[in-house]
Amino acid sequence: MGRCIKVPLKDGENIRRKLKEDGLLDRTRSVVVEGDHLLIPVEGNIEGYETLERDLPPLNCRETNYRRMVDVPGELVGLLPTSYDLIGDLAVIKLDERLLPYAEELAEAIMKANPRLRSVALDHGVKGEMRVRDLEILRGENKTATLHTEFGVTMEVDPSLVYFNPRLANERKRVADMVLEGELIADMFAGVGPFPLVICRHARPRRIYAIDINPEAVRIMERNIRRNKFQEIIVPILGDAREEMRSLPPLDRIIMNLPQMADEFLDSALSALKVGGVIHLYRILERDALEGFQDSLVSRAASWGFIISLETVRELKTYSPTMSVYSFDVKLIALG
Ligand SMILES: C[S@@+](CC[C@H](N)C(=O)[O-])C[C@H]1O[C@@H](n2cnc3c(N)ncnc32)[C@H](O)[C@@H]1O
Repeated sequence: MGRCIKVPLKDGENIRRKLKEDGLLDRTRSVVVEGDHLLIPVEGNIEGYETLERDLPPLNCRETNYRRMVDVPGELVGLLPTSYDLIGDLAVIKLDERLLPYAEELAEAIMKANPRLRSVALDHGVKGEMRVRDLEILRGENKTATLHTEFGVTMEVDPSLVYFNPRLANERKRVADMVLEGELIADMFAGVGPFPLVICRHARPRRIYAIDINPEAVRIMERNIRRNKFQEIIVPILGDAREEMRSLPPLDRIIMNLPQMADEFLDSALSALKVGGVIHLYRILERDALEGFQDSLVSRAASWGFIISLETVRELKTYSPTMSVYSFDVKLIALG
């Protein structure tokens, strides 16, 4: 236990600096964010502030929260991201533009908090049909290619060349756990192949056709298939999913992970699916548009001659203050 003062976040940094100048800051313990306030460890009695007795973390044990290691003005502390993507030995962080002047300092803190990291990159957003990230290396080695391990599969990933979302790991495993022996599967938007690879690792499908329109994705996917020795099962295909689906045999399962617009390809997917087969479709939606979207899936399918049911609908993650990423398990019940 030790003494600290509780100050509003917006004033916190100025007060901390002043305490440091006056020799009143306790340098053996960390500053902690608590709601809208900062708890600043102090030595002696400080007049004019709410004083508490608190067990603040000592500074000499290794800090794993980068937010406790950075020195940004108090009013910006609340903008520090609470999480970032870890892809192999690369961290990818998105920053509010008010934090950009501190980007390198934040990257340094992230590297210190995660000693196994080799680089930290700033994410300027996902662009174009191929959903590739515009990344800027802030600290560490000037590279974005890395090896990422997920549920026992090690795969090459380069988020500056091919879209990859490490936060879908549990969803990929959920789908893998549904796959029955001998299934014929297509992944219409396969990227570097994480769905097919995790499925092959945990289930026994007969064949997985893994399509992507991005030549870099297919090149890396081919290496991942060889690395994991699934050449007999995963068939990488470079091309437009709408075209490529036409030449595939009737399928038991189809994965549609193009969350901005997957439903625009639903007619191609349903045409390739066996009756009783399942589509895993991912879509970013306004939360209040979810019900309307589900109704429109069913009615659009009916207008093409397919009777479908939505077996499971799940909110996977928040995308923005009003939007989320949803997964839909769509079953083809009958031909209408
Ligand atoms: C959101 S990423 C999904 C990647 C992968 N499934 C994953 O989980 O990491 C979508 C992928 O679809 C590919 N893509 C976009 N339009 C396509 C199309 N018309 N046909 C095939 N692939 C397409 C992009 O190149 C990108 O790799």
